[in-house]
Amino acid sequence: MPAASFPAPDPADWQARATWLRAELGRHNIAYYVFDQPTIPDAEYDKLFRELQALEAAHPELICADSPTQRIGAAPLGQFSQVTHSMPMLSLNNGFEEADIVAFDRRAREALGYHRQEVEYAAELKFDGLAINLRYEHGIFVQAATRGDGATGEDVTENIRTVRAIPLRLNTATPPALLDIRGEVLMYKADFARLNARQRAAGQKEFANPRNAAAGSLRQLDSRITAQRALRFFAYGIGALEGAELPPSHSALLDWYVSMGVPVCNERNTCGGAAGLLEYFNAIGQKRAQLPYDIDGVVYKVNSVAEQQKLGYVSRAPRFALAHKFPAEEALTLVEDIEVQVGRTGAITPVARLAPVFVGGVTVTNATLHNEDEVNRKDIRIGDTVIVRRAGDVIPEVVAHVPELRPQDARRFVMPRHCPVCGSAIVRLEDEAIARCCGGWIKCAAQRKGGLQHFASRKAMDIEGLGEQLIDQLVDRQVVTTAADLYQLGLTGLAELERMADKSARNVLDALEKSKSTTLARFIYALGIRHVGEATAKALASHFGTLDALLQASDAQLLEVADVGPVVAGSIIAFFADPLNLELIAQLRAAGVRWEESSTAEARPRPLLGQTFVLTGSMPTLTRDVAAAMIEAAGGKVAGSVSKKTSVVVAGEDAGSKLARAQELGIAIIDEAGLLRLLQEH
Ligand code: IVH
Repeated sequence: MPAASFPAPDPADWQARATWLRAELGRHNIAYYVFDQPTIPDAEYDKLFRELQALEAAHPELICADSPTQRIGAAPLGQFSQVTHSMPMLSLNNGFEEADIVAFDRRAREALGYHRQEVEYAAELKFDGLAINLRYEHGIFVQAATRGDGATGEDVTENIRTVRAIPLRLNTATPPALLDIRGEVLMYKADFARLNARQRAAGQKEFANPRNAAAGSLRQLDSRITAQRALRFFAYGIGALEGAELPPSHSALLDWYVSMGVPVCNERNTCGGAAGLLEYFNAIGQKRAQLPYDIDGVVYKVNSVAEQQKLGYVSRAPRFALAHKFPAEEALTLVEDIEVQVGRTGAITPVARLAPVFVGGVTVTNATLHNEDEVNRKDIRIGDTVIVRRAGDVIPEVVAHVPELRPQDARRFVMPRHCPVCGSAIVRLEDEAIARCCGGWIKCAAQRKGGLQHFASRKAMDIEGLGEQLIDQLVDRQVVTTAADLYQLGLTGLAELERMADKSARNVLDALEKSKSTTLARFIYALGIRHVGEATAKALASHFGTLDALLQASDAQLLEVADVGPVVAGSIIAFFADPLNLELIAQLRAAGVRWEESSTAEARPRPLLGQTFVLTGSMPTLTRDVAAAMIEAAGGKVAGSVSKKTSVVVAGEDAGSKLARAQELGIAIIDEAGLLRLLQEH
């Protein structure tokens, strides 16, 4: 517990008074968020806070970035910028049963060469929130980034600055030059209930669970909104560290954090061997419902850092850690109907309409049955009572039907022969699991709607406010056929639609206008080319640099892109061979949709320009896609096979013939660490 600071100075001495107020507020914050022992009532805290605010308003030269008054949020951002993590943010391997935990402990023991002795573990909670990296330079908070794809995340610094649980300055006289603190941002259950009550009263959308509320609050472009949400933080890991010794164990690391005023959950312990881990798991299981926040399991980490390093990583997860997950929640409910949905590519998906049931933190009324074969395999019929399962953030799933509860008149699902939306034939090719509507987007309104939804979605053109209901109306009234039509919308047309006030119509038009300034990767993704997901779109954009280069790319050129195989390449070529698609692109450009092309993109440093890399074997932390994206972002090329043109081979574990070939040709060979160094040097 931090000691009380010096006695209150004379209020006339405002400089000393401001310093004193900041120290007092900091001390109360630590008592509240780190030690869970409030030292003063909220009203007293607010009084001190307002006094500091008034002092700073009268003497602006007193304001500093780490003053608690700087947590009110800043002007909204247009979009989040990207942050490349100094070390990848990894995930955890999961275990579910006792046997998984026993096996994890055995592997650790064997790899560490323990015979009789037990391995010491640090055990802690698995929080159901969002991973975050907090960067401190010389003890001052400078940047926060979400996990993203593990290699790059979104810069949410302004939002995190508003979170009172997160210190703006580390409480130490000897801060490291650089420290990346990793942990979880979450919302307490009680704060979640209060937030939803407020949303309800204001007629705004409620959140399904605390995790979604935390995610929605953190991803606000307007940090003034985040400032009103009660977010919490618990630290559980470390990224980069410079200018200090790494503590020798995980528990010492967390103790160090606590000493610097960083919140760490106190439900942590050290345990010996598998028996100790299982004991911890059972004790937490008993407590779970009483905890003020949601958890979805516990996490075990080999405590000694030296031993952690010895165990290392496999693909994207540490070998020294394991998440022991609670079983997914299940519930029984009735299948009231099985309908089909038509997706943007015409894919027909059977969907079970369920009697509403509360499971895994949300009320579920629909569950996908994936495809016809899946319905038959599980033998799900209309009228059946089924087991529905929902784990964490995963979409609900129908596990099985309960045979004893099947009524005599339960009806089998029959795949319709015609599309329920446009009446075109439904066809299932012999070697495909999916049946499709043959209408295409010209005939089939469902495909049009799906395509437009995809175009407007957050990871594509990110048109806020243009949601499913609005798109349905625009398509049904034939106001909009293609994505280009969206940019021709006017205020009167929009405001006429149901549930569209003048103000919301204006917001949609603003969002459309804003979306015109985009990135090439988003634009490629928004086109909805089959098999081109977000990662492939990014790879294509950084490889080709301009849309025209992509439009003209041959099959062979497309295959040079990491992530692109023959099926994807074929799909891209077919898309750009269709005159309707070319016309759509021309119309979108004419409407003012634009992005930074490589002429300006090349202004970025591209230190690896002209070098061709080949990746082989499995690397300790990076996946091949992430490594390829990093190389391409630095201007390098990634090829599939080693030839005389190859500049560098990056070899991981179990590298085979490519490594041998590189040795034969005398090509430079580096490992993951070498690659990271190469990228960092520039
Ligand atoms: S450690 C190298 N510890 O779980 C391992 N993760 O599957 C890095 N999480 O994205 C993660 N509680 O959001 C770790 N006590 C805990 C955690 C935890 C929750 C989440 C985190 C991460 C995911 C990994």
